[in-house]
Amino acid sequence: MNASASIQDPISSALNKKSFDVEAIRKDFPALHQQVSGHPLVYLDNGASTQKPQQVIDAVNNFYKHDYSNVHRGIHTLSQRATDHFEAARETVKRFINANSLAEVIFTSGTTNGINLVAQSYARSNLKAGDEVLVSAIEHHSNIVPWQILAEQIGIIVKVIPINEHGEILMDEYRALLSDKSKVVAVTQLSNALGTITPIKEIIDAAHAAGAVVMVDGAQAVAHTPVDVQALDCDFYAFSGHKLFGPTGIGVLYGKQVLLEAMPPYQGGGDMIKVVSFSGTEYNELPYKFEAGTPNIAGVIGLAAGIDYIERIGLDAIAEYEQDLLDYTTEQMSAIEGLRIIGTAQHKASIVSFLIDGIHASDLGTLLDHQGVAVRVGHHCAMPVMEFFGVSATTRASMAFYNNRADIDTLVKATRKAVEMLR
Ligand code: ALA
Repeated sequence: MNASASIQDPISSALNKKSFDVEAIRKDFPALHQQVSGHPLVYLDNGASTQKPQQVIDAVNNFYKHDYSNVHRGIHTLSQRATDHFEAARETVKRFINANSLAEVIFTSGTTNGINLVAQSYARSNLKAGDEVLVSAIEHHSNIVPWQILAEQIGIIVKVIPINEHGEILMDEYRALLSDKSKVVAVTQLSNALGTITPIKEIIDAAHAAGAVVMVDGAQAVAHTPVDVQALDCDFYAFSGHKLFGPTGIGVLYGKQVLLEAMPPYQGGGDMIKVVSFSGTEYNELPYKFEAGTPNIAGVIGLAAGIDYIERIGLDAIAEYEQDLLDYTTEQMSAIEGLRIIGTAQHKASIVSFLIDGIHASDLGTLLDHQGVAVRVGHHCAMPVMEFFGVSATTRASMAFYNNRADIDTLVKATRKAVEMLR
């Protein structure tokens, strides 16, 4: 078998089976099978980053072992192979999100990079002082701060779409905020801090009716629900590889071609040009106009392998499985005395953020880690969410499709034990 074939045909165990077999899936994730603090690891920090299946590790490894070279630059065989893998990965992403063309799939370093690109290229060149950007009160800092930077630069106004005590966007208040001054609506599809799934299609339709374009932060959503950018009709959609069972340092910005064509480059450098001279430079066509410099080639290849992996399970099956796991987690955790779940939206993904009376989140997180349970504690890069709920931090268990009920039972037992020790 040659190296290229090994990237295209990753080993498969659970994935060829028709039914959702979590125990078989778990075998594909080597990092899950280790001891932490003398206990079997229970990894419940998937909102921060997901573990990688052997197929992703092999794809990256094989690329470095056999096909590594720079892309789009060499006549030699390795560069051609690397370019073929790189552009095949773009096809994979296009299919995954149902983009209309390859020109609409821009590789970035991650969601944050994608949102900053839209703020600094699209918004900076199309908005003027007094124009409004609407963000929701449940946004991650990466969908707040780029707009605040733009406000400092060109005088736009950032308006906040309020939420209710469940962590749901108030749609009537959102509609009331929309006006002819609204130029961009920047909203998450799935809150990392609370798990809220937003009514993104309704949000997009209302924004378009008001003449605004929509930037969707899909960092959390893509690993939990099928995404079809054409059906959503979003203008921009950003996500990261590392939350999608792929490598860190790689992400995707989808943009409608008509918007991307008209946007100025975000960064200058190699690959994003056709001709450079001191009398003027001609920029490259899409998507390369937005891909200055040597890209994260192995990251792109690993991302495609991650997408292949989850596509073979199916995001509908993943969503159904995770919904059941979320219901089980919510029920089991709610039975712990003094525990309050923060984020009780009707439509939620598999994230449970919680507080326990009289116990600091970081103390709890440390004691959970001592029992092999990995959770995130803190503000989850969403300080305005914490402010809304009047807390400085929560403990967050965020599940992926490789978690099972036994993981949740361990979380519950370990939490009870930690509470006993801390009270
Ligand atoms: N945004 C990531 C999280 O929610 C890092 O943990």
